[in-house]
Amino acid sequence: MRTRYTKSPLVAARVLRAGGLVAFPTETVYGLGADAFDPAAIQRIFESKGRPTDNPLIVHIAKRADIQRVAREVTANAKALMAAFWPGPLTLILPKHPAIPDAVTAGLDTVGIRFPSHRRALAFLRAAGTPVAAPSANRSGRPSPTTWQAVREDLDGRIDCVLKGGRARVGLESTVVDCTSRVPVVLRAGAISVEALRAVVPEVRMANARDKARGRSPGLKHKHYAPGVPVTIVRRRMRRLGAHAAWIGLGDPPRGGLVVCRCRTPEEYARRVFAFFRRCEAAGAKVIYCEAVPQTGIGRALMDRLQRAAGATRE
Ligand code: TXA
Ligand code: MG
Repeated sequence: MRTRYTKSPLVAARVLRAGGLVAFPTETVYGLGADAFDPAAIQRIFESKGRPTDNPLIVHIAKRADIQRVAREVTANAKALMAAFWPGPLTLILPKHPAIPDAVTAGLDTVGIRFPSHRRALAFLRAAGTPVAAPSANRSGRPSPTTWQAVREDLDGRIDCVLKGGRARVGLESTVVDCTSRVPVVLRAGAISVEALRAVVPEVRMANARDKARGRSPGLKHKHYAPGVPVTIVRRRMRRLGAHAAWIGLGDPPRGGLVVCRCRTPEEYARRVFAFFRRCEAAGAKVIYCEAVPQTGIGRALMDRLQRAAGATRE
């Protein structure tokens, strides 16, 4: 299959409406979209990514009213969080509308819904005229793509179209909040911090081991975000690196090393880390050192991704 590359949301939307797979930019990471009501296209998403079929997809919408096409019921907490953070990097889990195929939700009776804020993503979703199911546009187990070139690296020749855009502004995947019970539960940390969520709904809590055991967040049981090079989290300042080592962090960078990426803020670190992982692989690094950051704001999401990349949360 020849993959078409375009900057036109209209061209990309036409491919999607014809049953095709379209990668598109969002403010978090690039997504790999298909018509959420087309089970054959949904199945191709799982095949092209090599994604386990028990890991559900997020459905993307371009206006608040479209939530009625995807969710059976919108809970009070969900309404408050939507009002505060949509459009933006927040995914809400709600009871699923019966019209959404089981393949999208991996058989769950709940569905993840996101209304992104990215301009070109919205133009594409509006032109598509249908809710779009989309996981991150990487091969399963690889870092999420934050540029269209990273999408090409993983999926060229396996999907129909790539809607090109710039580098993703956030760089980490959306915050996922389960709103199906009275107390909302954060299943995945992201750019919308727990502190920000609690300012709107004070009861919000983080997922715990029991939630994971109950299979509440299927995504948590899969190893994610793993580059092909071993990752080690470091808490102290490093002075020197070996010739085949790479480093990313906020402090003074060590001397030497193959790839070194100094970030000014945790936000910049989050924005750059996935592309950095890919650069380390391409350069042939043998080990990647990632400096730890404080677990507040985006820092919590960043540490979560670093720990997954380091294999610390593998189950
Ligand atoms: O920022 C993002 O969320 C990006 C962009 C493209 O929107 N998408 C993304 O999708 O990161 P993906 O498939 O890589 O991650 C979706 C996460 C997975 O951990 C999945 O298990 C979880 O959301 N999820 C989806 N539907 C769910 C549901 N009904 N219940 C619990 N978790 C769900
Ligand atoms: Mg993903």
